[in-house]
Amino acid sequence: MKKILLGVLLATTLFPVAYADNPIRGWLKPYVNGRGLAFEFSSDSLNWEVLGGGRTFVDSDFGTWGAEKKMADPCLFLNENGLWTLMWIPNPRYHQYAICTSPDLIHWKPQDYPPLTDEIQRSINECRQTTLQVPWSLIESLRERCSYLDARDQRNAETLLDDDKRFADLQPFNIHLSFDPASSKDISDKLIGVFFEDISWGADGGLYGELIQNRDFEYSPDDVMGRNPDWGPLYAWSIDKASAEISTQNPIHANNPHYIRFTAKEAGATLSNTGYDGIPVKKGEEYLLSFFGRKEARMGNAQLTVSLQDDSGKRIATANVRITSNDWKKKELTLKASADASSTRLVIESGEPQTFCLDMVSLFPRHTFKGHRNGLRADLAQTIADLHPKFVRFPGGCVAHGDGLHNMYLWKNTIGPLEERVPMPNIWRYHQTLGLGYMEYFQFCEDIGAEPLPVVPAGVPCQNSSWGGPGQQGGLPFASTLRMNEEIEPTLTMEQYTQDILDLIEWANGDAHSTKWGRIRAQGGHPKPFGLKYLGIGNEDLISEVFTERFTYIYNKIKERYPDIIVCGTVGPFFEGSDYTYGWQLATDLGVPMVDEHYYLGPGWFINNQDFYDHYDRNRPKVYLGEYASHTNSRQNCMESALTEGLHILNLERNGDVVAMSSYAPLLCREGHGNWNPDMIYFNGTDIHLTPGYYVQQLCGQNSGDHYINGALSTDGLRLPENVRKRLAYSCVSDSESGDIIVKIANLLPVEVNTELNLGMLQDDEKAKAIVSTLSGQPTDRQATPVTRNQDLIGAHFPCALQPYSFTVIRICKKQ
Ligand code: AHR
Repeated sequence: MKKILLGVLLATTLFPVAYADNPIRGWLKPYVNGRGLAFEFSSDSLNWEVLGGGRTFVDSDFGTWGAEKKMADPCLFLNENGLWTLMWIPNPRYHQYAICTSPDLIHWKPQDYPPLTDEIQRSINECRQTTLQVPWSLIESLRERCSYLDARDQRNAETLLDDDKRFADLQPFNIHLSFDPASSKDISDKLIGVFFEDISWGADGGLYGELIQNRDFEYSPDDVMGRNPDWGPLYAWSIDKASAEISTQNPIHANNPHYIRFTAKEAGATLSNTGYDGIPVKKGEEYLLSFFGRKEARMGNAQLTVSLQDDSGKRIATANVRITSNDWKKKELTLKASADASSTRLVIESGEPQTFCLDMVSLFPRHTFKGHRNGLRADLAQTIADLHPKFVRFPGGCVAHGDGLHNMYLWKNTIGPLEERVPMPNIWRYHQTLGLGYMEYFQFCEDIGAEPLPVVPAGVPCQNSSWGGPGQQGGLPFASTLRMNEEIEPTLTMEQYTQDILDLIEWANGDAHSTKWGRIRAQGGHPKPFGLKYLGIGNEDLISEVFTERFTYIYNKIKERYPDIIVCGTVGPFFEGSDYTYGWQLATDLGVPMVDEHYYLGPGWFINNQDFYDHYDRNRPKVYLGEYASHTNSRQNCMESALTEGLHILNLERNGDVVAMSSYAPLLCREGHGNWNPDMIYFNGTDIHLTPGYYVQQLCGQNSGDHYINGALSTDGLRLPENVRKRLAYSCVSDSESGDIIVKIANLLPVEVNTELNLGMLQDDEKAKAIVSTLSGQPTDRQATPVTRNQDLIGAHFPCALQPYSFTVIRICKKQ
């Protein structure tokens, strides 16, 4: 504490008095703007001006998103090492303070939130609202920083929607694009993949084929933080001529404690489930119904009729079943639909007054993706497969590290019999059955020929957590510190948790006979190892001390035991800032092979930062751009977002020697249940709506290569203004498997650009076939679909008219 007070003293007394007309020194008055630190400044300590229009220099990142992130009583001082130190109370509801340091008030180290002691509280009280006398050059540097950021914000606010003014006089023009095979490099063959997360009903009610909602009666008010009074064990269920209670006595399995005890008051009493916005069925298709049932002791067999009924009550499929046992018994039967219906309900009808218990009531189409039991919705899975992703990242996103220590996604809870899995609240405020678990994710990857890229928490939950305490909650405790952390009762120690991660690798890759977890995988139905190569640790985490210690521990253990696994670290949610800088620093220091970058930014950022990776150090970790999307002001997936994402992919391809992987996020959204916008694929129970962004990913996924060929753009003496030139991007790759050459061109201009391609890799009289695919449309267009045509080529020169606002892929097949 003495050190802190010394710092306060230094900052307030060491600098001599300033001269107002020719300042050497000036004054800074820190204040809070929103959740961040802003300044007023003065050259005479009498007249004050707001610095940078109130721009904040560090924002509190403690606790839940939104209004819960606060900054009170900021105390800023120079510490004895000459570092600016900022302390504040991040939220008076919790006994923690926040602290971070900076050499210049501009670049800040990640924040830490240690316990608040009386001594710290006293010193914060003493120093808050202090006016600081500082060198005038410091004030100047802050003002310059604000001007730089203002100019940058203005540049990055560029949107295609203003183009009628920006390019009012622009006429169609000609360009030449020449590609020189002598100037080329190897690039990643895994550049385009998918990011899968159970957000916006992406898994339950989405990709997972289950048609019954709340099949296990495990919905809990915690799922929605009590915000929906209807949300609980009977959600999506209704009863008629009956009474029902939710019981936990003698359940099928302790991991699934709730079940329904149903008492029919008369024959014809029903228990119905509405599924996820209705249960869609197709004429002639079979649906597999299963449930666990138990009759009451001393009662006769329970006679039930099970049917799928449309809105008018018409039965589309019917079967009869009896519950004959006093112990839980699984029943399975098939329902065949006699008609199409977009929205039916499952109705379980009692033949007489009686009492019985049900749990795990499940209905799957027989036709799932690749026909797996407990499988995936076929049309959605196929839509993802059609992207030709080279990898699938799962299970998130924020779902991976979860809302608090008790909500971390633990892979072992997601394998084995469904009734033994551990359902839990989803951080996006609904329920996870975990029926789509690690076995199903790995199986999907195998089915579509994509590398699995699981992401496990780094022993810390999301820094935005709200459940069981705010933020990272101190992370999972190491065994040695267990007793010290009394507030949060841990489920696991770091040592146990890290062993679970090692077990995951053994589960995925271990021999089915000689390893424990390989055997468990085989018992689960997959004797052949999955061949896991990649493993992500952490997601967008705050690079706090708590995180750093845990990440380092996990990383070293994996490296020691499985040196060939390509571990992917995390560098925060932005393309800059303290988590980005220090996440990169940590990964570089540890020698982590790859890091996961995330950024969601406006179209103008993508247009104006095309060299983002050109200057990346090739000797540092590789980049996995794990989450990105172009967010227009209207936050819609439209041609403007798609074109700027396409532009970015071309820049990624050019940098495919340092960018190893990329995935757009988020992937799926069930209409009416969106947690996030925009997404790549929208769907309801029966239909899938693809977006321009989907088509750009698909064009690039289906036309990826492993070798980059440098190109040059020239004009016939025309000097293209910078704002025109940056709206054109191109890339040329070759694919060693097919031998094909692929040119991709983005034209983000409102005019046609006539292009002559000069393909140095073709002889003058060589014949080839080209498949030309073009996606074009006005910036706000959300319905654009690509058009594909074939063209015969002779020789190296190939004319191609680039339509206004278009993304064109030319695949040249030399092998006839
Ligand atoms: O993609 C949606 C969310 O964005 C992810 O869950 C999270 O990682 C990011 O903040």
